[in-house]
Amino acid sequence: DALRHIVQRMPKAELHIHIEGSLEPELIFALAKRNNVALAFDSVETLRAAYAFTDLQSFLDIYYAGASVLLTEQDFYDMTRAYLLRAQQDNVRHTELFFDPQTHTARGVAMDVVINGIWRAVQDAHTEWGMTGALILCFLRHLSEDDAFDTLEQAMPYRDKFIGVGLDSSELGHPPEKFARVFAKCRQLGLHLVAHAGEEGPPAYIASALDVLHVERIDHGVRCLEDAALTARLARDKIPLTVCPLSNLKLRVVAQLSEHNLLQLLDAGLVVTVNSDDPAYFGGYMNDNFIATFEALPLTRQHAQQLARNSFDAAFLDVPTRQRYL
Ligand code: ADE
Ligand code: ZN
Repeated sequence: DALRHIVQRMPKAELHIHIEGSLEPELIFALAKRNNVALAFDSVETLRAAYAFTDLQSFLDIYYAGASVLLTEQDFYDMTRAYLLRAQQDNVRHTELFFDPQTHTARGVAMDVVINGIWRAVQDAHTEWGMTGALILCFLRHLSEDDAFDTLEQAMPYRDKFIGVGLDSSELGHPPEKFARVFAKCRQLGLHLVAHAGEEGPPAYIASALDVLHVERIDHGVRCLEDAALTARLARDKIPLTVCPLSNLKLRVVAQLSEHNLLQLLDAGLVVTVNSDDPAYFGGYMNDNFIATFEALPLTRQHAQQLARNSFDAAFLDVPTRQRYL
C-alpha cells in the first residue's frame, strides 16, 4: 500500500542495531552445528517460541545464549553480512553497528576475531552496494568499569575500525555514573560517545548520561517525557534519541504500540530516529518498525520524511557524506 511504498522508497540510516541481535534462529542453529556448540533448544521452532519476553533482562538472558554460537571470524562476518543484506533491502544506506565484545572475549574469543569479522562485512557492503557503515563498541553495564577498561585496552589495536563507544545491557541498578572514568578516557581518545538511557531506567539516567558521560546521542530515551526540563534540554541541544518501537513493545516498555510516545517526542521538537535494536528477536527490521508504528499512531507522510532525515542528521557522518544522502 501507499505507506509501505513511501517507507520503502526513503533512504534511511540505522543508528541503533546490536549486531548480535540480528542473529536469526536459523543462523544460530547453522553456526551451532558448524562449531559443535550445544544449544539448550532442540529446534529453530522451540528457540523462536522462547522469544516471549517480559522485560529487558528476560530478553538479555536469551540474547547472550544465542551469541554463544559465534566463535570464528567467518561467523562474525556471516552474521553481519546477513544483517547488511536485509538492511539494504529496506533501503538503509548507512548503519552504525553496536557490538558487545565482552560477550565474546569472556568466552575466549579474541578481540581481533570479533572486530575483523564484523568490519570485513561492512567494507564488502560498501564495495558492493555503496552502503556506508561504522562500528560502535558497547560496554556491558552489568559488568564492572574495570572490565570495560580492559575491553577498551584490548580494542585499541583496532582503533581505526570503530568510531565510538556505547553502554548497553541491564539498565536498572547500573547508572551511567558507574562508567564515568572509562567514558572520560574514551572522550580523550576522540571516540564518539552514546549510551542506552531511559529505556527501563528513569529520566535521571538520561541526565547523567549527558552530564557525566557527555554522550552525543541517547539510545532509547523514551522516558525523557517524564521530566519536562530534561525534554526541553534535549530539544534545545538537539540530542538525538534512537528510538526502537518494536523493541519497546516486545520488552513491555509499552503495553501496545498505540501507547508509544513517538509522536509526543516529535511534537516536543526532539531529533527522533526509528531503529530496530535487535531485529531477529523483536519481530522486525527497519521498515517493519516504521510500518507497525505508523499503523498504530496518527503519523503522517511528513513525519516519515522527518524521521528519515533525522537519521542522517543524527549519524556520525562527515559533512560531504551527509550531504550526499540528504
Ligand atoms: N543489548 C541489546 N539490546 C539491548 C537493549 N534494548 N537494551 C539494553 N541492552 C541491549
Ligand atoms: Zn539497544
